[in-house]
Amino acid sequence: MKILVTGGAGFIGANFIQYWLKKHPSDSIVNLDKLTYAGNLENLAQIKENKNYSFVHGDICDPKVVDSAFEKVETIVHFAADSHVDRSILDPDPFIKTNIEGTYVLLKASLKHGVKRFHHVSTDEVFGSLDIESKEKFTEKTPYDPRSPYSASKAASDHLVRAFHETFGLPITISNCSNNFGPYQFPEKLMSLCITNILEGKKVPVYGDGLNIRDWLYVEDHCEAIELILEKGAVGETYLVGGLTEDIPNKEAVSRILKLMEKDEKEIEYVKDRPGHDRKYSVDWSKIKTELGWEPKHSFDQALKETVDWYKNNEAWWKHVKSGEYKNYYKQQYSS
Ligand code: NAD
Ligand code: DAU
Repeated sequence: MKILVTGGAGFIGANFIQYWLKKHPSDSIVNLDKLTYAGNLENLAQIKENKNYSFVHGDICDPKVVDSAFEKVETIVHFAADSHVDRSILDPDPFIKTNIEGTYVLLKASLKHGVKRFHHVSTDEVFGSLDIESKEKFTEKTPYDPRSPYSASKAASDHLVRAFHETFGLPITISNCSNNFGPYQFPEKLMSLCITNILEGKKVPVYGDGLNIRDWLYVEDHCEAIELILEKGAVGETYLVGGLTEDIPNKEAVSRILKLMEKDEKEIEYVKDRPGHDRKYSVDWSKIKTELGWEPKHSFDQALKETVDWYKNNEAWWKHVKSGEYKNYYKQQYSS
């Protein structure tokens, strides 16, 4: 099988390509990536010589580039996106362009080339925010209620994907997953930022009161969920993918990292809250468990330790990523 992966030089895409080629060595993968600040070919250094892997440097918003990347492609796994909420607050433009228009370009090309499956990787953020005390969880039937430019752009892309299925019969699946963490995550997201700041001897910025709750998912578990959806998922369906976590407020998640790294809570710096900060996400993943037999294999604490060890052992990777443009972003985001 030939798979087109978009955004494969980013965090989840790179983990997915490595995962897939290990499990399916005779399949071939084309990775189409624009290499924005978040795209990094070092994430794929281990497989760059693999004869079943190739890279196309290009923008999913460019119909010509997309058209040429589709040759003989049967399946598309669409990760490419602008993915960081804080950046969507600083400047929503690239989010609207890539996440909505780019997805539309890919959908049109998928119809033209008759792909057998278009799998769209989306987020639980499209469902909005739960109350902190609520025992409610997002399900596949929860109405959409996005609250940031990022989540609104992802919601729009989900609607387009579903519309291409209902109207034109494109064979699609969608997964909406919770907060991923693990190796190769760009250090702008809470986990990777926290671990690398501690390794640099810097404070860890926690927004607001630190009581916001996320549903943490180890990236390898997410890759396995996508694999099962491609293999056994029903066309036209949406699957929610979440972690094994109980409700863990951000300050508790950070404290667990600090403890693993033999530091204490004095390293936390409470900073100005994110505008429109969603209070809580919580995902009911019983549909994918019942229908496809998936459940997360990694406990939060076990996966956290593996993640901390990975950043400790890959200092050159994150030091390189944290140089250049990153420094300007960090100043703009955290200086006040
Ligand atoms: P990321 O920011 O680490 O990587 C995004 C990748 O897309 C980069 O390699 C970037 O170069 C590429 N890209 C961006 N714009 C492009 C364009 N116009 N054309 C081609 N390539 C482009 O993102 P991630 O964390 O790996 O997320 C991947 C997908 O998963 C996204 O669609 C995101 O919305 C979704 N998602 C992420 C999480 C999470 O916790 N990280 C959770 C739920 C859903
Ligand atoms: O829920 C899935 C989503 O998870 C994905 O769709 C997004 O692509 C991904 O970025 C992530 O969004 P969040 O906004 O939840 O992730 P982030 O790591 O930015 O923040 C996690 C929580 O930590 C959130 O409550 C904000 C808080 N936070 C974040 C940063 C960067 C801090 O307290 N301090 C920080 O410096």
